[in-house]
Amino acid sequence: MRAILKYYKNKDYNNFEELLSDLREARDKFNNLNSSTNIIVDTRAILNTTQLKFVIEQYSVFSKEAIHMLLDAMIRNHDWPELFKELQNNIDEEKGQETKGIPHLEIMRRGYEKDLNILTDEVKINLITKSFINKMRKIFNNNDNAYSAGALLAFEGVAIQEFHIIDKIVKEYDQQNKNLKVQENNTLTNYYINGHKDFEIGHEEHLANSIKPYVTKNNMKKIVTGYLDVCFVISLWWEQMYLESEQVRFSEENQLQDAEEFNVESVIFKK
Ligand SMILES: [Fe+2]
Ligand SMILES: [Fe+2]
Repeated sequence: MRAILKYYKNKDYNNFEELLSDLREARDKFNNLNSSTNIIVDTRAILNTTQLKFVIEQYSVFSKEAIHMLLDAMIRNHDWPELFKELQNNIDEEKGQETKGIPHLEIMRRGYEKDLNILTDEVKINLITKSFINKMRKIFNNNDNAYSAGALLAFEGVAIQEFHIIDKIVKEYDQQNKNLKVQENNTLTNYYINGHKDFEIGHEEHLANSIKPYVTKNNMKKIVTGYLDVCFVISLWWEQMYLESEQVRFSEENQLQDAEEFNVESVIFKK
């Protein structure tokens, strides 16, 4: 990851179009941002239901926080009115403008509860997720418009792949729990996930158009920095989730109270 960051941060960009295509190229080099190479997708068959549930739960925390990140960015970017308007559209969509007034998150909550028996309001937020959310909130609270515009571009740029990733993880979880129903097409969970694969189409392009009027030779580097920071922070979180899920499994198999409890004598040598 360091080599990708270094290369694209140091590169010279001549115009916005070139910058956009280079940023997409950079994004595609992060394995965890792609639904075929993401670390959890890649290992999902050897993860158990506890681990998959852990990842779905932690991801739901991010889904809930995302609208707050958009709001922060919108308020801080009020002096780029085109961008402000575009963010407002996205937030209206999240509030249910195209889903009969039902906010997307309510569809997720009810779907996960009905179809997966996962109560997202009772999820214990893991430390790695807390740290991830803090970093993201900091990114979207930046007072440099160009920096947060870049961050927003990345946010929208990874969204479709993220829903493909979640889809694969949820389907694996569903398959391992033979009594669940997500494989059927008419569940709320399917509506939520598949819906987003479509809703998100066009978001990235609209956002790019709303940023374009404000891009200058001087602020392009800031856009790149915001963009790469988001790619890096999300990628890192996926890696951490993988490792943490190993800890969660270990704790469960050894009937430990929580992840902090670890006693070599009783765990390793008891057998
Ligand atoms: Fe949404
Ligand atoms: Fe979006």
